[in-house]
Formats: sequence, C-alpha cells, structure tokens
Amino acid sequence: MPPQLTRLLIVFAVLASGLVAARHFLLPKTFGESGHYRTAAVEAITKQPVRYAGREACALCHPDIVEIHRKGNHQTVACEVCHGPAAAHVESPSDHQLPAPRERGYCPLCHGYDPSRPTGFPQIEPVAHNPLKPCISCHNPHEPRPPHVPEDCRACHGQIARMKAVSPHVQLACTRCHETPERHKTAPREARPDKPRTREFCGACHAQGASSPKEIPRIDLATHGGRFLCWQCHYPHQPELN
Ligand code: HEC
Ligand code: HEC
Ligand code: HEC
Ligand code: HEC
Ligand code: HEC
Ligand code: HEC
Ligand code: HEC
Ligand code: HEC
Repeated sequence: MPPQLTRLLIVFAVLASGLVAARHFLLPKTFGESGHYRTAAVEAITKQPVRYAGREACALCHPDIVEIHRKGNHQTVACEVCHGPAAAHVESPSDHQLPAPRERGYCPLCHGYDPSRPTGFPQIEPVAHNPLKPCISCHNPHEPRPPHVPEDCRACHGQIARMKAVSPHVQLACTRCHETPERHKTAPREARPDKPRTREFCGACHAQGASSPKEIPRIDLATHGGRFLCWQCHYPHQPELN
C-alpha cells in the first residue's frame, strides 16, 4: 500500500474513534429517550424563574394605563417590551422598580426611518422631527398619536416624499395624482386615496398635443411603451431623467 494512503487511513481511523468516544462520553444522559431530544431539557427550562408577567397582571395596580393601552396605537407593543421583565415587580413593586424609557433615543429604535420597514409603518427622521425635546413630551407612550392631524403626506409617507422632492415631478402635489379623502389622515387603512389607473392620466401632461406647458417632455401616447401602463416602466414618484 502506498504510504500516503496508509496515513489517510490512520487519520480516518482517529476521526472515527473520536466520534465514537464523543458519542459515548459527551452525549447527555437523557438524549434519545423521547426521539431526537434531551428529555431533561424540559425539566431544566421549567426550573428557570419566570421573568415576564404579561399585561393582564398590570391591570390590578395600573388599571387606567392598561385600559388606554388596550385600545391605543401601541396595543401590539407589550408593556414589558418597553419596561422590561416585570414578574419581580408584580410580586413586590417597591423592592423591584421598573425602568421607563424616557430618553429620546429609545422610540426611534422602532420609528426611526428605515427603508426596509413596511409601507405605512409610522416613521420619522429623528434628526429632523422636533429635535431636542423628548418624544413623550408630545406623544403619550401608552397611546401615541400625532398631537394634531398631519398637514402633509410627508408625515407618514416620508420615503416617497423625499424621493419626489429631488425628482422631475417635484412640482406635482401628491393630490394631483392621488385624490385623498380627508379621513385618510386619521384612519389611513380604512379610507384609501385613489391611484392613477390609465395611460391617459399621464398623457394629460405628456401626450403630444396636450394643453400642458410646452416644456414638459412629450411622447406619442398611442405608441410609446406599447400597451403597458406608464408606471410599469417609470416610477411615478421619481421618473428618471434621460
Ligand atoms: C401589586 C401592584 C402592582 C402591579 C401588579 C404592577 N405594578 Fe407597577 N407599580 C406599582 C407601584 C406601587 C409603583 C410605584 C413604585 C414606586 O414608585 O416606588 C409602580 C410603578 C411602576 C412603574 C413606574 C416606573 C417609573 O419610572 O415611574 C412602571 C413602569 C410600572 N409600575 C410598570 C408595571 C408593569 C408593566 C406591570 C405589569 C407587568 C406592573 N407595573 C404591575 C404597583 C404594581
Ligand atoms: C412604547 C413603550 C411603552 C409601552 C408599550 C408601555 N409603556 Fe409605560 N411608560 C413608558 C414611558 C416612556 C413612560 C414614562 C412616561 C413619563 O414619564 O411621562 C412610562 C411610564 C409608565 C408608568 C409610570 C408613569 C405613569 O404614567 O403613571 C407606569 C405605571 C407604566 N408606564 C405602566 C405601563 C403598563 C402597565 C403598560 C402596558 C399596559 C405600559 N406601561 C406600556 C413607555 C411604555
Ligand atoms: C417595539 C416597537 C415600538 C416601540 C419601541 C415604540 N413604538 Fe410606537 N408604534 C409601534 C407600532 C407597532 C405602532 C402601530 C403602527 C400601526 O398601527 O401600523 C406604533 C405607533 C406609533 C405612533 C403612530 C400613531 C398613529 O398615528 O398611527 C406614534 C406617534 C408612536 N408609535 C410613537 C412612539 C413613541 C413616542 C415611542 C417611544 C416612547 C414609541 N412609539 C415606541 C411600535 C413601537
Ligand atoms: C414638539 C412635539 C413633538 C415631539 C417632541 C415629537 N413629535 Fe412626533 N409628531 C408630532 C406631530 C405634530 C406629528 C404629526 C405630523 C407632523 O405634523 O409632523 C408627529 C408625528 C409622529 C409620527 C408619525 C405618526 C404617523 O401616524 O405616522 C411618529 C411615528 C412620531 N411622531 C414619533 C415621534 C418620536 C419617535 C419622537 C422622538 C424621537 C417624536 N415623535 C417627537 C409632534 C412631536
Ligand atoms: C396618518 C398617516 C398618513 C397620512 C398623513 C397619509 N397617509 Fe397615505 N397611507 C397611510 C397608511 C398607513 C397607508 C396604508 C399602507 C398599507 O396598508 O400598505 C397609506 C396608503 C396610501 C396610498 C396607497 C393606497 C393603496 O390602496 O395602495 C396612497 C396612494 C396614499 N396613502 C397617499 C397619501 C397621500 C397623497 C397623502 C397626503 C394627502 C397621505 N397618503 C397621507 C398613512 C398616511
Ligand atoms: C405623477 C403622479 C403621482 C404623484 C405626483 C404621486 N404619486 Fe403616488 N403613485 C402614483 C402611481 C401611478 C402609483 C401606482 C403605482 C403602482 O400601482 O405600481 C402610486 C402609488 C402610490 C402609493 C402606493 C404604492 C407605493 O409606492 O407605496 C403611495 C403610498 C403613494 N403613491 C403616495 C404618494 C405620495 C405620498 C405622494 C406625494 C409625496 C405621491 N404618491 C405622488 C402616481 C403619483
Ligand atoms: C401635471 C402634469 C404631469 C402629470 C399628470 C405627469 N407628469 Fe411627468 N412630468 C411633468 C413635469 C412638469 C416633468 C418635468 C419636466 C422637466 O424636466 O422640466 C415631468 C417629467 C416626467 C418624466 C421625466 C422625463 C425626462 O426625461 O425629463 C417622466 C418619465 C414622466 N414625467 C413620467 C410621468 C408618468 C409615468 C406620469 C403618470 C403617472 C406622469 N409623468 C404624470 C408633469 C406631469
Ligand atoms: C415599456 C416601457 C415604457 C412604458 C410602458 C412607458 N415608457 Fe416612457 N419611456 C420609456 C423609455 C425606455 C424611455 C426613454 C427612451 C425614449 O425616449 O424613448 C421613455 C421616455 C419617456 C419620457 C421622456 C421623453 C423625452 O423626450 O424626454 C416621458 C415623458 C415618458 N417616457 C412618459 C411616459 C408615459 C406618460 C407613459 C404612459 C403613457 C410611458 N412613458 C410609458 C419606457 C416606457
């Protein structure tokens, strides 16, 4: 046998016996008793102290806060997300006080502008949005809402507004293309704005022979882009310059 093959076989033999030894000495005792699990893990986990209490436990002593939180915009954000694990506090409030995130840096962890967040999730640019004051001086953390109805679509659609602001469509108001019911600004998911539906909509400004200002670039509405809708090729909030 060639010596390099012998060496290879020795390496394999060492590895294999290592594996057998590891299986024998290192596997937890209860491994395999119930399938591919370590049965004792269940017991070990149940022995860990309970750290979270859940919202219902707070109702006993903070009923007013639980009540407004239940109905408010933060109903899906559990008390203990902001105040930390509270089981010890529930047992003995004066011995275990809970922190409250009053500092301005906290809320942008969820609300700071980030393009990967879903459309419509309320986001702000912390540097520009009422700087230097704590968020909670204007928004009740237990039932946050804008202190007044937003005047501008930018308050909730910041990403689109920022894009449009540096695009050839900068001068077009959002409402030129989206007829928006006033109620959209207070109940955005129930009252939805309109969206353009036809090629003729864009053609009103861009078709040859349209009565719009002559500086606006023209296309032949009948042939340009075939039968596709304009926004299948041009992003309407930032149509590209060519
Ligand atoms: C048995 C009554 C009791 C229960 C249950 C209870 N608390 Fe409290 N909580 C208190 C009392 C009393 C204080 C005031 C403590 C102090 O100021 O020394 C307090 C204070 C607080 C504070 C004030 C912190 C601050 O900086 O002002 C927070 C936050 C808080 N509780 C959150 C919770 C949450 C969340 C729950 C539910 C998981 C809860 N509490 C359940 C009695 C309770
Ligand atoms: C989004 C984060 C957030 C959530 C969720 C939240 N809190 Fe708070 N909580 C705060 C902040 C911030 C303060 C400090 C408010 C202040 O100083 O004006 C506070 C203050 C408190 C206080 C003490 C001051 C007061 O207003 O009486 C209690 C008690 C309290 N929270 C309980 C709760 C309970 C109970 C829940 C769940 C029903 C809850 N919190 C959910 C952020 C939160
Ligand atoms: C763990 C993530 C999280 C944290 C932390 C958080 N929020 Fe929220 N916030 C949410 C969610 C979820 C909503 C509901 C969004 C929705 O309805 O689509 C919301 C809604 C809001 C709204 C919008 C209400 C509206 O007009 O629809 C405001 C204002 C707000 N939060 C302010 C705050 C403030 C101030 C703080 C800090 C005290 C804070 N949030 C901390 C998750 C968070
Ligand atoms: C001086 C008061 C003030 C302060 C401080 C403030 N806000 Fe606002 N916030 C407003 C107003 C007013 C609006 C309504 C939109 C507008 O007009 O800009 C708003 C809107 C929002 C919205 C959008 C609501 C929606 O439905 O999309 C969020 C989220 C928000 N604020 C979070 C925060 C956070 C987080 C902080 C702290 C970093 C903060 N705010 C600090 C006054 C304030
Ligand atoms: C209070 C926050 C808020 C304000 C202010 C607001 N929107 Fe919205 N908008 C939303 C939310 C939330 C959605 C729903 C997003 C989703 O469900 O995907 C939405 C959806 C939309 C849609 C898509 C509708 C659809 O069916 O796809 C359009 C278009 C729109 N908004 C335009 C506007 C215009 C134009 C303005 C200003 C006149 C405006 N919005 C002001 C929060 C707001
Ligand atoms: C030139 C016309 C035009 C203008 C101006 C315009 N939009 Fe749109 N918008 C459209 C069209 C067309 C669609 C549909 C795109 C689609 O269906 O793919 C749309 C889709 C949307 C949507 C839903 C889809 C998405 O991209 O999230 C929102 C939200 C929206 N617009 C908000 C706004 C806001 C806010 C402004 C002002 C800052 C604005 N739009 C300005 C034409 C316009
Ligand atoms: C109210 C009139 C108006 C409407 C409606 C309109 N646009 Fe425009 N569009 C303009 C203006 C103004 C410019 C900028 C012209 C300039 O560069 O001075 C422009 C620029 C453009 C450009 C960039 C052309 C270039 O190379 O400079 C494209 C692409 C475009 N629009 C596509 C669309 C689409 C798609 C729609 C329909 C969703 C639409 N427009 C609706 C007025 C309009
Ligand atoms: C199949 C994709 C496609 C569709 C659909 C489409 N376009 Fe275009 N568009 C283009 C391309 C590619 C260009 C750049 C090359 C050119 O000038 O033909 C362009 C250029 C433009 C220009 C700039 C012309 C210039 O002279 O600067 C405008 C304005 C425009 N399109 C508007 C529209 C409008 C309005 C619609 C809907 C009626 C539309 N487009 C549909 C692909 C498309």
